[in-house]
Amino acid sequence: MAITFEVIHKDIAGRVGKLRVNGRTVRTPALLPVVNPHLPLVTPREMQEMGVEALITNAYIFRRSTEFCDKALAEGLHSVLDFDGTIMTDSGSFQLSVYGEVEVSNRETLEFQQAIGSDIIVPLDIPTPPDAGRERAARELATTMDRIREARELFPDANLAGPVQGGIFTDLREEAGRAVQDLGFSFCPVGAVVPLMENYRYQDLVEVVLAAKRGLSPATAVHLFGAGHPSMFALAVAMGCDLFDSAAYALFAREGRYITPHGSFKIDELAELPCPCKVCRSMTADELRRSEDRERLLALHNLYVTLAEIARIRQAVQDGTLWELVDERCRSHPRLLAGYRKLLAHATELEHYDNVSKRRFFYCGSESCRRTEVLRYHEVVPRIPIGERVLVSFDGREVPGFDTVLNFKPPFGPYPVELAETFPIGQSEVPEWDDDMVRSGCAGIRALMEAHPESRFAVRCGDVWAQLVLNEVPGAEVYHERV
Ligand code: GUN
Ligand code: ZN
Repeated sequence: MAITFEVIHKDIAGRVGKLRVNGRTVRTPALLPVVNPHLPLVTPREMQEMGVEALITNAYIFRRSTEFCDKALAEGLHSVLDFDGTIMTDSGSFQLSVYGEVEVSNRETLEFQQAIGSDIIVPLDIPTPPDAGRERAARELATTMDRIREARELFPDANLAGPVQGGIFTDLREEAGRAVQDLGFSFCPVGAVVPLMENYRYQDLVEVVLAAKRGLSPATAVHLFGAGHPSMFALAVAMGCDLFDSAAYALFAREGRYITPHGSFKIDELAELPCPCKVCRSMTADELRRSEDRERLLALHNLYVTLAEIARIRQAVQDGTLWELVDERCRSHPRLLAGYRKLLAHATELEHYDNVSKRRFFYCGSESCRRTEVLRYHEVVPRIPIGERVLVSFDGREVPGFDTVLNFKPPFGPYPVELAETFPIGQSEVPEWDDDMVRSGCAGIRALMEAHPESRFAVRCGDVWAQLVLNEVPGAEVYHERV
């Protein structure tokens, strides 16, 4: 038995793939709704009808339940839950993080998870909270690694997940990623990120996930444990997360909260139900608010919205438009925007994963200047063949006396006419030029100049850009005229 993962499409560090477990296939990115057998607001069978291919439930809850333990052991999880997809079980580590201790050993939970017929089993890892110091994080990581190794030795044929811990210490996360990778895991959850997401610490989340990814192989399926609100899924997928387990649909419903891909609303504050799902199109906001079934209906809506967002992300990866989606989603909260900017700060790293060519590049504001495509363009600029005297012309018009005349497209920079139809020059849509994008284009000119110290450079631009160009491209002659 094995968990295998096949990547089919890529965009940024995100991927669309197929996870194969026990003869079933899960399309990724995937959402695994958290199912609590004691209060199934939405039944696993309903979930399956909504397109859910995998779910997660807590083995610890089953083990301690007088109602479900024996039944699960006798019939198996698929029968008890009435779900014919992939079932992942968590070990009790989440309870460990909330209550401090659990009455189960690593071996016991692993044996139990297998005995109830779980498809993906999780050892008893230790979710180190973000406020833990380095010493504690390292100590707990060592224990987690011991348990992962023990799991491998005890159950070499089991479909084991290899959690990546390490607190907020990026070197520990990277080391942890490498260590589980060396043990041969093909399915690795990044753990202990719930407190980061609950506190909107998306910058830390980006650092932690990217660090774990550095240690992991790109061939490994990455699960983000306990994520989260759908507004952060696009960001997480851009970092290379493939699976999410989320209880948000139910937790939010319990609190009367209505999820949208941009954020959530209190149902009491809604005059309208701005969503195309079955629930929202069959009643008014008032009716939903007053319904006896309100919690369940909200959970249904929340789940529909969450699943639709996952589908939208899969489509964006396939289309090569994930940056645009991340940009859109991350504008719904300032802390998400901070996370997005942190991700952009790692563009050099992400660029290695990203595709060389895409269908399009839409400029969405100054953040777009730091996208992987711009960075890559600045890396290829030095290879543009040029003569001794080079003119970069903002408006396409020439000045006599130059060996090479290049056009200019911000935020990329100079380009020869041969590249006019190729990505990104030909497929990029930019609004009226602004300072940030022209500055970024000037960085492209500088890259060309640095690669050709033997050539002399001039820029032809309108008056409005002259000062900026003089500042950004020192050493170039500037021709400007009133336009
Ligand atoms: N659920 C949320 N976070 C975690 C984690 O770090 N480990 C496990 N096993 N489950 C989780
Ligand atoms: Zn709805």
